[in-house]
Amino acid sequence: MTRVFSGVKPTGHLTLGNYLGAVRRWATVDQHRGDALFCVVDLHALTVEHDPARVRRLSRQAASLLLAAGLDPELCTVFVQSHVDEHARLSYLLECVATDGEMRRMIQYKEKAAREQGRGGSVRLSLLTYPVLMAADILAYGTDEVPVGDDQTQHVELARDLAVRFNQRYGHTFVVPRATRPGVAARVMNLQEPTLKMGKSDDVGPGIVYLLDEPDVVRKKVMRAVTDSGREVVYDREARPGVANLLEILAACTGGDPEELSGAYASYGALKKDTAEAVVEVLRPVQERHAELCADPGHVEGVLREGARRARAMARPTVDAAYRAIGLLPAVPEAEAEAEGKTEAAVNAVR
Ligand code: TYM
Repeated sequence: MTRVFSGVKPTGHLTLGNYLGAVRRWATVDQHRGDALFCVVDLHALTVEHDPARVRRLSRQAASLLLAAGLDPELCTVFVQSHVDEHARLSYLLECVATDGEMRRMIQYKEKAAREQGRGGSVRLSLLTYPVLMAADILAYGTDEVPVGDDQTQHVELARDLAVRFNQRYGHTFVVPRATRPGVAARVMNLQEPTLKMGKSDDVGPGIVYLLDEPDVVRKKVMRAVTDSGREVVYDREARPGVANLLEILAACTGGDPEELSGAYASYGALKKDTAEAVVEVLRPVQERHAELCADPGHVEGVLREGARRARAMARPTVDAAYRAIGLLPAVPEAEAEAEGKTEAAVNAVR
C-alpha cells in the first residue's frame, strides 16, 4: 500500500496557495489512495521568530482546517508533529548524514535568512537545519509519496538524497520518497506581487487570500489583483505573471485548463470577477465546516490524540531501526529493565 505523508506549518493562517497546492488534493485524492498521514508541523514554526501563544492557536486552527477541508480520520491519520517524539529523534541522526553545504544551498533557507538579516534579526540555527527535520518527518514513516506544492520540491529531493545515503552507509533502512504535485496551481502567486509565491508568513497581506477570509474580503483582494500591462487575456507565466496567476486559480477552482480559459475572456475585469466568485465557492464549504468544528473543540482534540497514537506506532520501528543501523547501542526494553531491577532488589534483600 502506498504510504503518503505531508504537512503544513502553523506560521500563519492557511492560504489559498496551501489549499490549491496541497491540502485540497490530500482530501480529494491522497487520503483515498493509500495509507496517508497529514501533520501540523509545529516544530517547524519555531525556526523563525514566533509568539508561543500564536503558534498554539495556529496549530489548533490548522488542524481544524485540515478536517474542514475534508481529511477524514477514518481514512487517514491527522496529528501534530510535536506529539510524536520520533521526528526529533530521527532528525538528529539525519543531521549526522547531511552536510553543512547541502543545508546552505537550500533556496528557502537563503531567501528566509536574507529576509531575517534584512530586518536586522538573527537567523536561528534551526532554520538552517529545517530541511533535515522535514526529511525526518517523511522518512520516519516509510513514505513513498509526498504531495506538496512546487516550493517544497527541493526539500523532498534532500529527503531522497539522505535516505539513499543512509541506506548505502548503514544498510537499507528508509524508503526513498518522491514528491507529487498538482497539475495546476502548484505555485499560486501573491495577487499583489505575482512574481512572489503566495506565502502565509509574508507581509504582503492584500495579495494573500486566506482560507478563512470572508467572501467580500476575497472579492476585494481578487478584484484588486495586480494585472499586467496589455489588454488581452493570454496565458503566459513569464510575460504576464499576474493574469497567468488568475487563470491558474480559476482553472484550479473550476477544474478547467488555464490556457483554454484564457480564450473565454475579453477583459481582465471579467476574468477577475469570475475568479473571485470561483474562489468564494471553493472556500464556502471549508469555512462552513470549520465553523462547525470550532463549536466542538473536543472533537478536534480527540482526532489529534488518536492521530498521534497511530503515528507513534508507525514511526517507532523505523526510527529504532535507524538508531541500531547507525551504531547506537539498543536501549534495554523497559520490561526487561524492570525485571532486572526486581531481581537486584530481591538479591539485596536476601543479603
Ligand atoms: P507550508 O506550510 O509552507 O505549505 C504547506 C503546503 O502548501 C504548499 N504551498 C503552496 N502550494 C501552491 N502555491 C502556494 N503559494 C503555496 N504555498 C504553500 C506547500 O508546497 C506545502 O505542500 N516545509 C513544509 C512543511 C513540511 C512538510 C514536511 C511537507 C514540514 N515537513 C514533510 C511535506 C512533508 C512547508 O513549509 O509547507
